[in-house]
Amino acid sequence: MDRISNSQIAVLGMGIIGSRCADNLNTANMNVRTWNRTPKNRTDGMDTAADAVTGSEIIFFYLNNGVTCREIFESIKPALQESKVIINCSTVDLETTLWLAQECKKAGCHFLDCPFTGSKVAAGRGELVYYVGGDETVLDHYRTILEITAKEIIPMGKVGDATVVKIATNLISASTVQALSESLAIATAHGIPSDKLISAVSGNACGSVLSSMKLPTMANGDYETHFSLENMLKDANFGLSLAENAGLKTPGIQTTATVMQELCDKGSGTLDFSALLQQFEA
Ligand SMILES: NC(=O)c1ccc[n+]([C@@H]2O[C@H](COP(=O)([O-])OP(=O)(O)OC[C@H]3O[C@@H](n4cnc5c(N)ncnc54)[C@H](OP(=O)(O)O)[C@@H]3O)[C@@H](O)[C@H]2O)c1
Repeated sequence: MDRISNSQIAVLGMGIIGSRCADNLNTANMNVRTWNRTPKNRTDGMDTAADAVTGSEIIFFYLNNGVTCREIFESIKPALQESKVIINCSTVDLETTLWLAQECKKAGCHFLDCPFTGSKVAAGRGELVYYVGGDETVLDHYRTILEITAKEIIPMGKVGDATVVKIATNLISASTVQALSESLAIATAHGIPSDKLISAVSGNACGSVLSSMKLPTMANGDYETHFSLENMLKDANFGLSLAENAGLKTPGIQTTATVMQELCDKGSGTLDFSALLQQFEA
């Protein structure tokens, strides 16, 4: 690895994914400073986002949404002098991605639109798959750093394109888990044991990595959070907004978003998004 292996790296957002990515960067002997809104008592933790960014060449965002990314960007702006790139790995709305790119340009640093797929387990193993929008020479320069937390890096095109792809793929995951919930509810209501349905799905063309991950835990009522329902609802709403801007009607994700909103309103937002099954619980 070249000179950038000595660079200081700021990782902002110590949630499910950011904390694991920071751990992997530390394990790779990178010089890491982290920040989280709610203090996490980490040895690399700093009091403010600006403290973490001061002196950092590379800044990763693993924050929840676009509003937070904009707020945190504003709070670190005065500390960006030595920063060369902001890599936003949070899933945000397209407008925020374009805004961040513009603000980074004004601040004199590069920007990569860098959402990912892979959940808690993949993040722990350093096996995320990043979709990257932005200048490929910038990506190539920082690729070795991204590879520490990745099993694959897929260039998507210009800034914004990775955001759109990420949102488009997430609506498949949300809709799939809605379909799994309906399937499980119908089968069990008719007396079919859940393990019979699980083995039927695994041998069926409708089976997928996602169904094999989610169906067994759903059948056990285990909603330990890998990707939260509230974050999936956020992404579904981003998808609906992209559809509306393109003049498209998308009834599948619209229905699933409505169900997710109802469950979040009842207090299930921090559970895994497979808690979609709760719509069938009394
Ligand atoms: N988990 C997955 O499987 C997965 C997969 C693909 C993409 N993503 C995306 O990656 C991003 C991170 O996901 P995650 O699962 O790690 O999310 P998470 O566990 O919900 O963590 C969210 C992070 O955002 C911070 N945050 C929330 N509101 C804030 C505010 N107002 N000001 C400052 N910080 C705030 C949280 O801090 P606190 O601890 O203080 O709340 C936390 O550090 C999200 O955009 C998500 O959609 C996640």
